[in-house]
Amino acid sequence: MNAPPRRVEHQQTDKGTVPIYTTAIVEQPWSTYSRADHGTWATLFKRQQQILAGRACREFIGNQQRFGMTPDAIPKFDDLNRVLKAATGWELIGVEGLLPELTFFDHLANRRFPVTWWIRKPEQVDYIAEPDLFHDLFGHVPLLLNPLFADYMQAYGCGGVKAHGLGAEALVNLTRLYWYTVEFGLIREGNGSGDDGLRIYGSGIVSSKGESIHCLESPAPNRIGFDMPRIMRTRYRIDTYQKTYFVIDSFEQLMEATRPDFTPLYAQLATQESIPAGSVLQNDKVYNRGTGEGWASEGDV
Ligand code: PHE
Ligand code: CO
Repeated sequence: MNAPPRRVEHQQTDKGTVPIYTTAIVEQPWSTYSRADHGTWATLFKRQQQILAGRACREFIGNQQRFGMTPDAIPKFDDLNRVLKAATGWELIGVEGLLPELTFFDHLANRRFPVTWWIRKPEQVDYIAEPDLFHDLFGHVPLLLNPLFADYMQAYGCGGVKAHGLGAEALVNLTRLYWYTVEFGLIREGNGSGDDGLRIYGSGIVSSKGESIHCLESPAPNRIGFDMPRIMRTRYRIDTYQKTYFVIDSFEQLMEATRPDFTPLYAQLATQESIPAGSVLQNDKVYNRGTGEGWASEGDV
């Protein structure tokens, strides 16, 4: 079996107590993955591939195929990097797990995407509280082949370094944007097939069986058009499905909206109250007004 990940400290944050690992970059210890580890990858990969057909956006599915990811074995970072570097100049680096914010931003700003090298245990296939290899690799890596999204992730890293210098409140605003786009974003694909065209691009969704279905098909959550200042004010859930998903029209829209310098926006947002995770506002472009069924009343972070 794998050596256990090297947890260095627990940090009290707005998201509760989270483990922060060593900041070291580690070589992916591919030969130490056990049969059980490869089996966990296979189980999760096959299951998600089935669920995501017709639910994940075209870019996600097409790029996953371009990487040649298969259920047969945990991919080697080196193999993925050959494809990725040639396409968008991004590089995957192995890490033990969650990184301190500034370290994470600095990697993104330099087109390095940290991937947790270890994979969850078989009993954790349905839920794991922290990112592992399956979430990071299966969830995040495919869209790094998309030139627009690749630029967005780098710009986010640069913006993170800046927000970190501006203070804790700016960082909270920016983190919400990451959460509601990179992790839990939906996109509207014109498909002419009569459904509403909503598809998944967020990594936190594509790596979760339950949420992949819930986010699109359940009447419970709100599905609302992308609105950047609104998102930056909106609290979120870390231990349940999201109460609200935000829908972009295109990756161009995401790039355009995030191009301006956020410094004045942060100052303006500092004067406004945060919005509970499940609220619908007057000006929201509502695709679905959630029924709120099954929502916990407490626990937005
Ligand atoms: N434009 C943002 C800023 O000035 C940076 C950013 C880009 C943040 C893309 C998120 C996503 O801070
Ligand atoms: Co993630």
